[in-house]
Amino acid sequence: MPDVVVVGEIGRDLVLGVDAIPEPGGSADVTARREVLGGKGANQAVGLRCLAVGVGLVGVVGDDAAGADVLAQAERDGIDVSGVVRRAGAPTALLVDVVEPDGVRRLLESVDDAVRLTAEDVRAAEPLIASARLLLVQLQQPGPAVREALRLARAHGVRVVADGAPADDETRRAVLGGASVVRADDTEAALLLDRDLGGVDAAVDAAAALLDAGPDVVALAVGTEANVLAWSGGQVVMPLIDSEPVDPTGGGDAFVAGLAAALLRGDAPEAAGWFASAAAAATVSHLGGRPDLDRARLDEVARLTRAEHDAAPR
Ligand SMILES: Nc1ncnc2c1ncn2[C@@H]1O[C@H](COP(=O)(O)OP(=O)(O)O)[C@@H](O)[C@H]1O
Ligand SMILES: [Mg+2]
Repeated sequence: MPDVVVVGEIGRDLVLGVDAIPEPGGSADVTARREVLGGKGANQAVGLRCLAVGVGLVGVVGDDAAGADVLAQAERDGIDVSGVVRRAGAPTALLVDVVEPDGVRRLLESVDDAVRLTAEDVRAAEPLIASARLLLVQLQQPGPAVREALRLARAHGVRVVADGAPADDETRRAVLGGASVVRADDTEAALLLDRDLGGVDAAVDAAAALLDAGPDVVALAVGTEANVLAWSGGQVVMPLIDSEPVDPTGGGDAFVAGLAAALLRGDAPEAAGWFASAAAAATVSHLGGRPDLDRARLDEVARLTRAEHDAAPR
């Protein structure tokens, strides 16, 4: 039985590297191409697998060839796909990530409503969820599915990590009331709090406000500057780790996978935060959102970065 169940999007990810986006009417040679299992849920699951965590995935693919392909890849990745729904007649999600040099990314998303999770889809995965130690919910999914996942986690005493912005107000209340860990990028944090945020100070305040609302750990991204991590008893502003960003896709998904894996192995929140940051930095340094994480390497980067941060004058 998996340690972590991830509820979220599954799709086919087509990553194309180009020297420059062509002008309207023009064309360009593709310099790099990858076609892989993708989508936020799948990427988080792959990240956890890289870190030797047992993972089950709950999501929807179509009954088309792409669906069969990505499911087969998920199985090769060692992911339990018993909670994945193959929806008759639905087209599997296609995500096209076009990347120019220096990490300039354009994302095209073809995600039919039919491949979004319903509450019934999630309920069908109850045995899987009940057996997990941790449930990772991607909030991009529709409100009823997210709320059902939270309800099942509560019923079975499973700790919840939520990533993203809730679809509606009812879901937002359910997330803040039911999730132990909440993570969001800048835009998502503004939606969680219903106010605009800008800069580190605003994110620190926002993280404190979110902690008051229920979660034990809150992680918020602050643009190209930092990630703020707050927990009952402390907080840390973690500057981004120096890396050559090749493609920003999947940074957040790797962050949340790293955070979940580290908390699961018993790391204290701050250590888990540095580990998560190292996972994000590793993922944005290659093309495509599919993470390729090495636990020992992340531990080393996290240790060095934290030591550097603690030694810096403030
Ligand atoms: N060099 C880096 N070091 C640490 N964290 C990084 C680095 N580059 C990007 N990140 C983090 O990656 C995350 C990207 O978040 P998000 O927008 O949710 O990405 P996605 O949803 O595409 O996976 C942010 O938390 C950001 O701080
Ligand atoms: Mg994200």
